Amino acid sequence: MDLFPRGRPTVCTIDLDALRWNFRQAREKVGAQVKILSVVKADAYGHGAHRVAETLVEAGTNALGVATLEEGIALRERGIAAPVLILAGAYPDSFDELVRHGLTPTVFDAENLDRLEEKARRRDKPLDFHLKVDTGMGRIGFLANDIAAWLPRLKKSTPLRLAGLFSHFSQSESVEGEYTLRQLELFKRTVERIRGAGHDPGLIHLANSAAIITLPAAYFSMVRPGLMLYGAYPSAAMAEAIALRPALAWKSRLVQLKKVPKGTAVSYGQTFVTRRESLIATLPVGYADGYRRLGSNRAEVLVRGRRAPVAGRICMDLTTIDVTDIPGVAPGDEVVLLGEQNGERISADEVARWADTIPYEIFTSIGARVPRVYLN
Ligand SMILES: Cc1ncc(COP(=O)(O)O)c(C=O)c1O
Repeated sequence: MDLFPRGRPTVCTIDLDALRWNFRQAREKVGAQVKILSVVKADAYGHGAHRVAETLVEAGTNALGVATLEEGIALRERGIAAPVLILAGAYPDSFDELVRHGLTPTVFDAENLDRLEEKARRRDKPLDFHLKVDTGMGRIGFLANDIAAWLPRLKKSTPLRLAGLFSHFSQSESVEGEYTLRQLELFKRTVERIRGAGHDPGLIHLANSAAIITLPAAYFSMVRPGLMLYGAYPSAAMAEAIALRPALAWKSRLVQLKKVPKGTAVSYGQTFVTRRESLIATLPVGYADGYRRLGSNRAEVLVRGRRAPVAGRICMDLTTIDVTDIPGVAPGDEVVLLGEQNGERISADEVARWADTIPYEIFTSIGARVPRVYLN
């Protein structure tokens, strides 16, 4: 099957079988008793929220997590009926839409709580929400250490129903340090205080991918995997603890191949000048597609199963590579920017290092103009 769309040959393939496999690995780690909220925010980390959500619902996810109301509505409009939590908070001016689409808000401060309660009072059934507690991330959430001040705001007879209580780790790469353990302890104390005041906190959740892989003490009644579902590791060392399969591959083709003499400058600013007679190829992909410019003269791609370096600056829509050392290279050859070719692999982690960033940003930066093609 030719994966490339008509026209510009640049595409991301998403292997839904890999996604199912990764979900099963998460399920095996946490066991059948712990619920899984699959994080599909930011268009499922660039993998396409609708198809990913559909696949994960079929695979048995208990809930989905998005960042914004709009992301939640988009899932509903595509027929996704599973519980959807708006992780990054809901805003009072859009509570009507939230209720209409049956989305679950995260409440992170007292004003939010009061406004949601006002809204809920006009309904004939309770409105579920999850309460976000800040145990050390320092962004949204009721400060765990200030619980004495905010706990009385949780009333028992209210049209709101506390359906979940959660916090987020400040470490996403590794959760082994002291700081994480302090967050865990503070979270546990918060749960106890809330229970002690006579409230049922509902679902209790804290674990991100790193904690699912290495910190069972953080499982509680639900976990929130993101990155691992897409087959990337929070840190390389975790490959020993769990076998994940990358779901996304980013491919293009050589659209022009040129033999140039020694001393030829390639791309903007002449940052690459050939030191020998060279074969320079052009790919129809650039930083406007999310192929980060920081990878200029640093990143590598795969051609015929071998690595070829990016030569010169990555442009908005085009990238030049040096294929002098690739035997048999020919115009039209498939190029892998991220993924596998003939047994050689470029991981999201590697692409991230070339761009001084993290795999999360690589995935979520792949632009909307790169078609996503679903396999399996
Ligand atoms: C609140 C929340 N929970 C869970 C996740 C998933 O984290 P990860 O992708 O590291 O598994 C994220 C991701 O940023 C998040 O913001």
